[in-house]
Amino acid sequence: MSAEEAESVRWFEGGFGLLYDRILSRKTRRGLLPTHVAIVMDGNRRFALSSGLRNEQGHRMGKEKVREVMRWCRDIGVKYLTVYALSIENLTSRSPDELATLFDLYESGFLELCDDREIHRDRVRCKAVGQLHLLPARVITAIDAAEKATKDYDDLVFTVCLAYGGRQELVNAIKDIISDHRDGKVDLDSICEELVSQYLYTHDMPDPDLVMRTSGEERVSNFLLWQMAYAELFFIDVHWPAFRKRDFLRVLRAYQGRQRRYGR
Ligand code: FPP
Ligand code: MG
Repeated sequence: MSAEEAESVRWFEGGFGLLYDRILSRKTRRGLLPTHVAIVMDGNRRFALSSGLRNEQGHRMGKEKVREVMRWCRDIGVKYLTVYALSIENLTSRSPDELATLFDLYESGFLELCDDREIHRDRVRCKAVGQLHLLPARVITAIDAAEKATKDYDDLVFTVCLAYGGRQELVNAIKDIISDHRDGKVDLDSICEELVSQYLYTHDMPDPDLVMRTSGEERVSNFLLWQMAYAELFFIDVHWPAFRKRDFLRVLRAYQGRQRRYGR
């Protein structure tokens, strides 16, 4: 294809693509939206490899994608967005160089959120959950700053899972419940699903209605294990940096077409 032809295709797709997104967006707004969307952002390095980029650039583009998805959630009216940005396992399985790159991105990402005009205009509360003490001090400082700057907002609650593991979260919850039981604060008979939920990082938000993973992998990888019990799951064959608004809207439309059963 000549450069001129490629340009025409881009223009054609751009124009019709935008119209298509707008129609899809309008249809989606008319249906029932998930209150809480949780995402396993996967495929940064494969995207980089297939585009002739360095891994670092894939992660950088992945970070930019998060900002876009936050915007889409605000536009469409999703109230909670939770993203999986680093598993507890990643802390030992990724090279020190790659981890340093990721830590730089988390640090700069949270610092940018602190004084981002859109974040304040749209009243987005930003926070991080996980075994945060395992992260470098500079990342923890940036998280604290973003949490403090946005603590009074609740139009969209944006949560980043870092050094996170669903099993570890449950182990910690069990320890805390036993400790409170020993201190006489929790009666054995009062231990129920709702009480366990109160001991999780996500105690102040509803369980995710929709959990999606990009990159074609069909695993949950220790993400929100307790919380996703009744979530609708979607696996999308697109790497995270290449995830488009229309992919997101299509997932929401597919969610609207599903009949949720909650174990019935
Ligand atoms: C998964 O792709 C991606 C990660 C483990 C890191 C995700 C981090 C970001 C997108 C930055 C987020 C920043 C903020 C502030 C929220 P992968 O490395 O597993 O790629 P692969 O599956 O192709 O190997
Ligand atoms: Mg991966």
